Amino acid sequence: MSQELKPVENLNETEAAEELAFLAAELARHDALYHGQDAPEISDADYDALKRRNDAIEQRFPVLIRDDSPSKKVGAAPSVTFQPVVHARPMLSLDNTFSDEDARDFVASVYRFLGQLPDNSIAFTAEPKIDGLSMSLRYENRRLVTAATRGDGTTGENVTANIRTIGMIPQTLPAGAPDVVEVRGEIYMAKSDFAALNAEMAALGKPLYVNPRNTASGSLRQLDAKVTASRKLRFFAYAWGEISEMPADTQMGMVEVFKSWGFPVNPLMQRLSSADALLEHYHHIERERPDLDYDIDGVVYKVDRLDLQARLGFRSRSPRWATAHKFPAEQAFTRLTAIDIQVGRTGALTPVARLEPITVGGVVVTNATLHNEDYIKGLGNSGEAIREGRDIRIGDMVIVQRAGDVIPQIVDVVMDERKAGSEPYRFPTTCPVCGSHAVRDINEKTGKVDAVRRCTGGFVCRAQAVEHLKHFVSRNAYDIEGLGSKQIEFFFESEDPTLMIRTAPDIFTLEKRQEASLTKLENIDGFGRVSVRKLYDAINTRRSIALQRFIYALGIRHVGETTAKLLARSYGTYEHFGEAMRDASTFTGDAWNELNSIDGIGEVVARAIVEFYKEPRNLEVVTRLLLEVTPEAAEAPVASNSPVAGKTVVFTGSLEKMTRDEAKAKAESLGAKVAGSVSKKTDIVVAGPGAGSKLDKARELGVATMDEDEWLALIGG
Ligand code: IVH
Repeated sequence: MSQELKPVENLNETEAAEELAFLAAELARHDALYHGQDAPEISDADYDALKRRNDAIEQRFPVLIRDDSPSKKVGAAPSVTFQPVVHARPMLSLDNTFSDEDARDFVASVYRFLGQLPDNSIAFTAEPKIDGLSMSLRYENRRLVTAATRGDGTTGENVTANIRTIGMIPQTLPAGAPDVVEVRGEIYMAKSDFAALNAEMAALGKPLYVNPRNTASGSLRQLDAKVTASRKLRFFAYAWGEISEMPADTQMGMVEVFKSWGFPVNPLMQRLSSADALLEHYHHIERERPDLDYDIDGVVYKVDRLDLQARLGFRSRSPRWATAHKFPAEQAFTRLTAIDIQVGRTGALTPVARLEPITVGGVVVTNATLHNEDYIKGLGNSGEAIREGRDIRIGDMVIVQRAGDVIPQIVDVVMDERKAGSEPYRFPTTCPVCGSHAVRDINEKTGKVDAVRRCTGGFVCRAQAVEHLKHFVSRNAYDIEGLGSKQIEFFFESEDPTLMIRTAPDIFTLEKRQEASLTKLENIDGFGRVSVRKLYDAINTRRSIALQRFIYALGIRHVGETTAKLLARSYGTYEHFGEAMRDASTFTGDAWNELNSIDGIGEVVARAIVEFYKEPRNLEVVTRLLLEVTPEAAEAPVASNSPVAGKTVVFTGSLEKMTRDEAKAKAESLGAKVAGSVSKKTDIVVAGPGAGSKLDKARELGVATMDEDEWLALIGG
């Protein structure tokens, strides 16, 4: 079942626990309806989809398996999902801000990006951040045609039939509304309706729902729209997607238009002109929070003028013109019962606190992160004392904090309750999985000891190898359906040469190896003929893959999605990239310089990539992988018809019409690559007053140079 929530591999433990609790309650309720009352609310297929979601979460978080888990009961059926809907404009998320100071920084960053003095001339809106589900409502010729959940931001689920049951959502728009408009906002369940529903459940002796958000989600994702209709869902409109004609030129104006079309909009939205005023409103909303009939988890600030929003544009996933100022994290006391060490893909040893279960902000928490060895000792990243130097010991009473999606953390210890005779925690100096030494490297640049202790086992460490594979198949990498953590562990552990997967290329030879095998995968518990076929199909469709995913999947240290994308865009094809990385092996010369000149890639990252390619074991795996899969050439630049698409541009000296950041963002949106230094590969150097060595170098190399006005004329800006 695809989810409007996160894919399982992106869930953190808190979210997983929350969802497992919800699924246990929801499935128990359906069991009762089906068996006890013979009045099922959902189809077998939908029931099964819920169950499989539950199983998938449990596979990833075995420690969270509940005593009342649905997986401990029997039952199965094929699955049905909602139809996918590709959003005409992606549904993005918001950056988070956690303090007043960060909120002021956000305001300052807007002025900075636009190259203006912070003189309170820019208006912002401030409105509650509703804790519900985002929804995109598409109207064509003033009729509601599609309602889609956010999904992964690009593709959501078609829940139109269910949305049509929500009375406060207009089915038609008045004359004068644009021919095409997508109104976006939040679906939620009122706290009062949630309480009433739970009172009904209690009266019937049924399990209670966990929180309004999950209940709203469950109510919406029913195959039978009658069920949705029976739950009171509500909506606030606050954004839009595709729109054929803009009816207003400010954020506030747009929301007023939505209101005039009959959409509910939030009454606490205000238009304000200074950071002080935004913060005052934030604190006002925070005080109102307990009395509101809907859950909110912060306040969203947005630049009001839409032309300024357009200039500010987007980072990879979120707009520069908005931020969500979250309410402070909730805290609770509990006892630390154990500290477990997890070994990650890069060998990092991460301490995880096991806790006596405690409810923090409505969610049961049993695990929390302890970050690293120094954090447990009471030392910060620069060796300074944190918690006034108090260390954390097994058996201590601790303060657990949980903020939104963030993994719960232990923020302090209650010293008065420390047991006599307790000992400081001794962090292991060997890997708990493979027994190799675990060391703390010295950072070459800073000369400081790294906060993270790492297993030196590399390829011999089972944990690292397995985590590498899990990363390889993860959602933003190869994203192979049917090959989750549990399956990876199964294949990794297998000793049968026709079944085992030890490195990524083995995934792609599995089907072939199985052909001649006597131990057929389909006869193994947990697999069946259909699922095995599906798995092979999923693997085979990935034999061709976007270059950026391929690079990301390699699991090179420090190379996350953004860096992988930069590399893919800069080198275009895998051949170029691989060759350049091998040429850079001496950390000198053109290839090395070129890698370092990519804007956004610093020396630490560059070094990690080259080091990766110097390791013969990595080269061998990559070579074998390339026999099986073909990385596609990087996507053509976004605006391939622009005169600068595909060109490498360097900005130097001061710019007068826009800030450096804005110039860079604009150039990139036109498909250009922006580099930090001039080389033979540079196409254009845009030089403002005060340009020095880069301009000289450009002249020396015969690279085209122009001033800011010429550049603006070229790009038509
Ligand atoms: S604006 C381009 N305004 O928060 C961003 N989002 O973290 C458009 N949300 O997915 C979103 N209340 O579901 C916006 N007043 C509000 C919101 C809001 C809740 C949710 C929304 C979005 C998520 C982003």
